[in-house]
Amino acid sequence: MDIRSLGYVVIESTEPQQWLDYGTNILGLMVAPTMPNDDNVYLKLDSRPYRFAVVKSDVNKLAYCGWELPDEAGFMAAKDELNAAGVSFEEASNTEAQARRVRGLIRLQDPSGNGLELFWGGELDYAKFISPMGIAGFETGDNGNMGLGHAVLPAAKLVETHLFYKNVLGFGDSDYMHFKFSPDPADPGQGLNFMHVNNPRHHSLALYEDQANPLGCVHLMLEVKDVNEVGYCLDRVEAAEIPIVSTLGRHTNDNMLSFYMATPTGFAMEFGTDGLQMDWEGFTPTVTSLPSLWGHKFNMPDA
Ligand SMILES: [Fe+2]
Repeated sequence: MDIRSLGYVVIESTEPQQWLDYGTNILGLMVAPTMPNDDNVYLKLDSRPYRFAVVKSDVNKLAYCGWELPDEAGFMAAKDELNAAGVSFEEASNTEAQARRVRGLIRLQDPSGNGLELFWGGELDYAKFISPMGIAGFETGDNGNMGLGHAVLPAAKLVETHLFYKNVLGFGDSDYMHFKFSPDPADPGQGLNFMHVNNPRHHSLALYEDQANPLGCVHLMLEVKDVNEVGYCLDRVEAAEIPIVSTLGRHTNDNMLSFYMATPTGFAMEFGTDGLQMDWEGFTPTVTSLPSLWGHKFNMPDA
């Protein structure tokens, strides 16, 4: 399967309007000008019509990661591969696909129960990105082909879920980490698989060995092009008294300089810059023993 990028995320929220204030005034995203003016909140950060769809619901969770296939042939091949692997999926209607601004869409779950969508024909709307906080640009590649950033998802069945993304969806391994948060010798610790798709971003997905996580997400990551925008965002977060989940730091595996904050939904948002862009030809997946070169003092052990 030839998945190219993380195209969008769909967040279900009891109060989507919370994301309007947070998304624009803290993250510096733009209200998507070519999306419907309804009860939902659509946020834009590059040439794509939106990257965040926050939809009205009676629960608060990350509902779907939308993964992009290159074209219709790739989409049909993906469905054949799912069928061959015995993975069931739901075909979305044309109306649903149009609402996502794509030409074809299917919906499924990974073995840990995370929702995902596969799509092809994602539109560019050519509406100029104008950040309300003056951010010149987010790092999403050419025509957004590196995707919106990355998602770290809970995986109660880590081994099975990792193999699903690797063997069925064709993701590649970037790095593996293993953490132990307690000194208890009986504590088996938790694994974290970092995975890439067919673009240079070091990882578009990470799977965290987590038990019940009703939020459906550990964190999402957005990358800006200028280190000063990380600092300005940190100032806005502190001024708004939004909880800082991790202090500023530099990650080892993707070199990201970032900090983490709480979102209105309760999972974290990593806001960073300077992430590695890889040439995957001949790459050997790494095993990393330390998450950060410096900083990144977390105040939530599982964030
Ligand atoms: Fe991250």
